[in-house]
Amino acid sequence: MRTQVAIVGAGPAGALLSLLLRRHGVESVVIERQTKEYVLGRIRAGVLEWTTVEVLRRAGLATRMDAEGAVHDSVKMAWRGEDLLSIDFERLTGKPMMAYGQTMIQEDLYAAAEAESANFLFGVSDVTINDVTTDQPWVGFTADGDEVRLDCDVVAGCDGQHGVSRGTIPAAVKTEYEKAYPFGWLGILSETPPLPHLIYANHERGFALCSQRNPMLSRYYVQCSLDDSVDDWSDDRFWTELLARLPISEAEQVVTGPSIEKSIAPLRSYVIEPMQYGRLFLAGDAAHIVPPTGAKGLNLAVSDVHYLSEAMAAHYAGDPAPLDAYSATALQRVWSSVRFSWWMTVLLHRFPEHTAFEQRAQEEDLVYLAASRAAQTSVAEQYVGLDL
Ligand code: APR
Ligand code: PHB
Repeated sequence: MRTQVAIVGAGPAGALLSLLLRRHGVESVVIERQTKEYVLGRIRAGVLEWTTVEVLRRAGLATRMDAEGAVHDSVKMAWRGEDLLSIDFERLTGKPMMAYGQTMIQEDLYAAAEAESANFLFGVSDVTINDVTTDQPWVGFTADGDEVRLDCDVVAGCDGQHGVSRGTIPAAVKTEYEKAYPFGWLGILSETPPLPHLIYANHERGFALCSQRNPMLSRYYVQCSLDDSVDDWSDDRFWTELLARLPISEAEQVVTGPSIEKSIAPLRSYVIEPMQYGRLFLAGDAAHIVPPTGAKGLNLAVSDVHYLSEAMAAHYAGDPAPLDAYSATALQRVWSSVRFSWWMTVLLHRFPEHTAFEQRAQEEDLVYLAASRAAQTSVAEQYVGLDL
């Protein structure tokens, strides 16, 4: 087989990249090791920066998002179980954000790929990325028991946190930055009406977040121990803990009900530099991980593939400069979101190792935020996302 761009991974990064490249007349083949049903069954975050909304709209991929997504002009932050602050992005930055689940974006991308007869291969195995420092790179894999060699001009590594592409880059030419956090998030989905707004809560019992998917589907999280398993968390225990961490005025509005999904995720920050090795270009979770506080993961995947698709289009039009600069261009935005996600995580969680001093200083950050329009503007512009 031969194509222009071989894309490894059909998560949001790989699927969107393929569709954006088609808009520039560049052809690609996407190979994914899971089945389509498996990818669509993953529950992920659900907050879109306005930049993401616009990238999807420009590509003609936003019909359902515009019909079913909920535009929000603010989020709330709570602390000490009583103080409450609303950060009004629309007033502070002129931009809102959109609550729309990543799982639905994934469905929209697959529906578009199918309608456009894009070349997506699911359930492949033994993926190898080869000869990327030559001008004849290729990707090897097994599909339906057959060994396939896919020759290409460039490879896009969109294979997420546990993929193979990052490992193709020799240790001598990459730098990895990493931070693990000493807690996880226990998340549930419940078929109950959500609160009208998102609320992030810092409480002495730990962090909590109230989010939403649609008018009859809520998403809630509480900070938990890394040693916990979902079996330790009955629905009753979850709701009791969530409500205890919210101010009473908010807790009173939460409608509880049976959970339909429950999972625990560790929190981690990670960046690899550079995001390129020869003709291999990394995008999305393959290149960076952020803790979910601030919901930047999907948005960064979208900004990476926006830059990468434009750079590849320029490359085929005879201008190599944007592709040569891809890693540097993408990393600026990556570090901005990595820093913000880390900062929000530190602001809102209880750290077992924190001293009383660090605890008071953290609370003071929230007190200052509540009192200062300048501080709120800074948070707002980072939450809604910087321009591309
Ligand atoms: N070969 C082929 N596909 C692979 C391989 C491999 N060796 N390894 C992993 N994959 C696939 C995974 O099965 C997954 O479907 O690559 C895809 C990567 O998708 P995501 O993990 O969703 O990553 P990405 O597309 O970068 O999207 C980033 O998704 O992970 C969330 O929080 C993250 O919201 C962010 C967004
Ligand atoms: C979610 O809706 O799943 C969500 C929202 C905001 C976050 C993280 C996750 O910061």
